[in-house]
Amino acid sequence: TRRVRTRELIAAKERGEKWPMLTAYDQYTAAIFDEAGIPVLLVGDSAANNVFGYETTLSVTADELLPLVRAVVRATKRALVVGDLPFGSYEEGPTQALRTAVRFMKEGGCHAVKLEGGRRTAAQIEAITAAGIPVMAHVGFTPQSEHTLGGYRVQGRGDAAEEVIADAHAVAEAGAFAVVLEMVPAHVAKRITNEIAVPTIGIGAGPETDAQVLVWQDMVGLRTGKLPRFVKRYADLHGTLLEAATQFGDEVRGGQFPSSEHSF
Ligand code: KIV
Ligand code: NA
Repeated sequence: TRRVRTRELIAAKERGEKWPMLTAYDQYTAAIFDEAGIPVLLVGDSAANNVFGYETTLSVTADELLPLVRAVVRATKRALVVGDLPFGSYEEGPTQALRTAVRFMKEGGCHAVKLEGGRRTAAQIEAITAAGIPVMAHVGFTPQSEHTLGGYRVQGRGDAAEEVIADAHAVAEAGAFAVVLEMVPAHVAKRITNEIAVPTIGIGAGPETDAQVLVWQDMVGLRTGKLPRFVKRYADLHGTLLEAATQFGDEVRGGQFPSSEHSF
C-alpha cells in the first residue's frame, strides 16, 4: 500500500468519482477509517471541541494539535493526512502561515495542511504551495471566524453567493488542491464544483460536491444533543459505550468481574 496523492483526488474529480473524508484525532479511529478505505483524513482544529472540550475552535493551538497529527499519520498506511492550521497560526501573513505549515509537515508528518478563508488567505495559500506543501482551503462558513460571521450560519444565501464563489475561485487560483465548502446552499456548491478544477469537499453543502466530510464523533453518534442538520448518524457509539461502561460498573460492584477466566 502507498499513500493517496493529491493528484489522484484531482483525477477522481475528472472521472466524476466522489470520495469521503473524515476527521481523525487518534490512532484507533484513524486506523479503522484507513481500513475502511477513507482516502483523506483531516486532523481538524475541531479537536478543540471533540477532543479537548473547548467551547470553540479558537482556543486550540498548534502545540496541542501536532501530537494528534503524529498519531494519525503513524496509525495509517494509505490515507492522505491533512493537518488543520489553528486560529492565530497563519492570519498574520504568508511568512507566519508558511512557518506553521512547515511545522505541521516536519513535526506532524502530515501530507498537506488546511486553512480557512477565501480571498483573505490567498496569499498564504500561494506561499505554502510555493514551498511544496499541498493546501486544502476552506470557504463558506469558517468556524474560526464565527464571531464575525455571527454564529453558525449558512453563508452565500441570495446576493452573498457571489462572495463565496469569488472566495472559491481565489483559493483555487492560489494553488489549493481541494476546497472545503461548509454550510453553503446546494446550488452555490454545485456551481463552484462545476467552475473550479480542483475537488470541492462539502459539509452542509448539498449532494453535488466532489467529496463529503463529516466529523467522526458526529457521524457515529458519539456526540449527543442537537446536531447540525448536515450530520447523518451511522452508528450509536454513545449508546454502545454507555451500555458497556454501565455493565462494567455493575459487574465490578456485584462481584461478577473478574471471574476465574479473567484471573491468574
Ligand atoms: O476541523 C474540522 O473538522 C473541519 C472540517 C469540518 C472540514 O474543518
Ligand atoms: Na477545521
